[in-house]
Amino acid sequence: MEFENLITEIEAGVATVTVNRPDKLNALNKATIDDLHRCFDTLREDPAARVVILRGAGEKAFVAGADIGELANMNSSEAERLAAHGQDMVNKIENLGKPVIAAVNGFALGGGCELAMACTFRYAADVAKLGLPETGLGLIPGFGGTQRLPRLVGRGQALELVLTGGMIDAAEAQRIGLVNKVYPADELMPAVQKVAGKLAAKSSLTLRIALKSIGEGLQMTQDSGCRLEAALFGVCGSSADAREGCQAFMEKRKPEFSDG
Ligand code: COA
Repeated sequence: MEFENLITEIEAGVATVTVNRPDKLNALNKATIDDLHRCFDTLREDPAARVVILRGAGEKAFVAGADIGELANMNSSEAERLAAHGQDMVNKIENLGKPVIAAVNGFALGGGCELAMACTFRYAADVAKLGLPETGLGLIPGFGGTQRLPRLVGRGQALELVLTGGMIDAAEAQRIGLVNKVYPADELMPAVQKVAGKLAAKSSLTLRIALKSIGEGLQMTQDSGCRLEAALFGVCGSSADAREGCQAFMEKRKPEFSDG
């Protein structure tokens, strides 16, 4: 796949997508958002990509936000269109049907933090800094941040971060539940690759159904979510992969899943 501002590679079931504008701290200009749309459309259909890792190029940043140069002189409908286009892109990542792990290797600010929050989970380097600084620019987060942040960290923490526009370090981000794990910078990618490899060895059907149950269940009441879970358990429970997984356990061997 050829992109203006992304580098992609796929190896052993794991696709790695690197946002590549390091001189601008990987800020999301329109071309990069378009690249991400196209990239995740392709990855959704590509059976070689079982798991995706998303990271930023260089040592300093994951993604330092939407490109502020493009935000300066928008009218109301342009601003709304930009938010909708960015939201469609992060929704595509959240609803990919495959795990997407954010390797937060540095600044994850504004749209970069929103991009990371749309990923399945987040591992961060100890040097990373995260935040939603938009209020300092006279803006609010527009790529889903006001919705995903409170769902991840709770209303009080989200309100504090969004209204103050403050940055937090990786340890604090882990403490409030914004990132799952923190590693020394040089250990981040090996740790992310290790978990990605484990996920790539699982049944892609099972993972897709687990993602659906949690993702769609969170939009429902708990009772409706449990009914959805039971229906999806029915799909998994009758699959060839469930037969193989349970049989392999009883025979004390590793399962060989067929993704069906
Ligand atoms: N949009 C456009 N350009 C950006 C950017 C963004 N969100 N974030 C960083 N850059 C650019 C800088 O303008 C600079 O470009 P230049 O060398 O052509 O001047 C380059 O990236 C390096 O950034 P710089 O500010 O010099 O690095 P720093 O280490 O001093 O500061 C940050 C790092 C992240 C604190 C600072 O760049 C920053 O505050 N960025 C904006 C974050 C933000 O508000 N994001 C939300 C946007 S909605």
